[in-house]
Amino acid sequence: MKTHSTVNPLPPNRSASIIGTGSHVPERVLTNAELESMVETNHQWIVERTGIVERRIAADGECTSHMAAEAARQAMKNAGVAPAEIDLILVATITPDTVFPSTACHVQRHIGAVNAACMDVNAACSGFLYCVEIARQFIANRAAETVLVIGADKLSSIVNWQDRNTCVLFGDGAGAAILRHNPESRGIIATYMGSDGNHADILHMPGGGCAIPITRENVDAKLNTLQMNGRETFKQAVTSMMRAANIVLERTGLSPDDIHCVIPHQANIRIIEAMAERMGIGMDRFHINLEKYGNTSAAAVAIALDEAARSGRLHRGAPVLLVVFGGGLTYASSIIEW
Ligand code: UT7
Repeated sequence: MKTHSTVNPLPPNRSASIIGTGSHVPERVLTNAELESMVETNHQWIVERTGIVERRIAADGECTSHMAAEAARQAMKNAGVAPAEIDLILVATITPDTVFPSTACHVQRHIGAVNAACMDVNAACSGFLYCVEIARQFIANRAAETVLVIGADKLSSIVNWQDRNTCVLFGDGAGAAILRHNPESRGIIATYMGSDGNHADILHMPGGGCAIPITRENVDAKLNTLQMNGRETFKQAVTSMMRAANIVLERTGLSPDDIHCVIPHQANIRIIEAMAERMGIGMDRFHINLEKYGNTSAAAVAIALDEAARSGRLHRGAPVLLVVFGGGLTYASSIIEW
């Protein structure tokens, strides 16, 4: 008599690897000097307190889905994947083109990925890693072969340009990755995702949903713009990202020293410095581009990953740590064998 396991064997889970990346930022550069004429700020303060020198701002009519599609085209080219091969499109964004349909559906139309199921994920700046983990699960369980993951945001569309506490920090952009099983790589070795809704109010956009709908009064009161308690967010960012990093290090049995390259969320150079100090590794181990783009929310870690990969900084087989933090609060980390 056949045993249960031989009658109906469960297929073993498969690993998932990033087989190609891409990114796109808008042409328009907004410098710190220009911001000096918009709000009471100065280049020296912005550089010293954040590390940001300039950021990119999308044109009117240049939507999140357009930047996302451009990043996706590059990732597909880099991976050697045709649009029709994509089974699933996941877009991490908090600035969707439309409340519905999803930005993923708009991207599908732009790139002609006719065979894909499409959805957005809202985990603020952590969204790209959340999507990478969802993609990994689909691939591991054989629910998808090829997944396109995108982090894209047009934060300039929800920034209050009269609020110096926030308007100097953010920029627009998109980063993309194609995930697939690669028998020659362990791919994504471990991921950790966490959230803390108790701190929802320290970084949020209060208006625009059903709680505070779009009315003339609410828009005039700037409730449809991003609001942040900077100091508290800073503290939570360091604590949460360290927690996330430590958990995946523990799960993989790796020490910070074993990590070839850390790709962190690009919010503030001082957050990254605090992490380097706590991890006991040099800043040279971190891939940083926030001086050029500011904080591009869900796109930040995806753009940095693409840049690091294209620059030859990531070596085959070497462990890479990605670690992110965002509104929600949300945070996540992944260790990837590149
Ligand atoms: O992606 C989501 C995650 N986001 C983050 O992780 C952001 C985390 N927070 C931060 O990066 C920092 O808290 C900020 C960059 C937002 C602010 O830096 P800070 O060192 O925490 O400054 P602060 O908020 O404590 O403000 C210090 C001073 C204040 O003046 P007073 O009250 O001491 O007179 C601010 O009004 O700096 C003033 N200030 C500015 N001055 C010039 C705040 N923004 C500006 C500005 N230019 N743009």
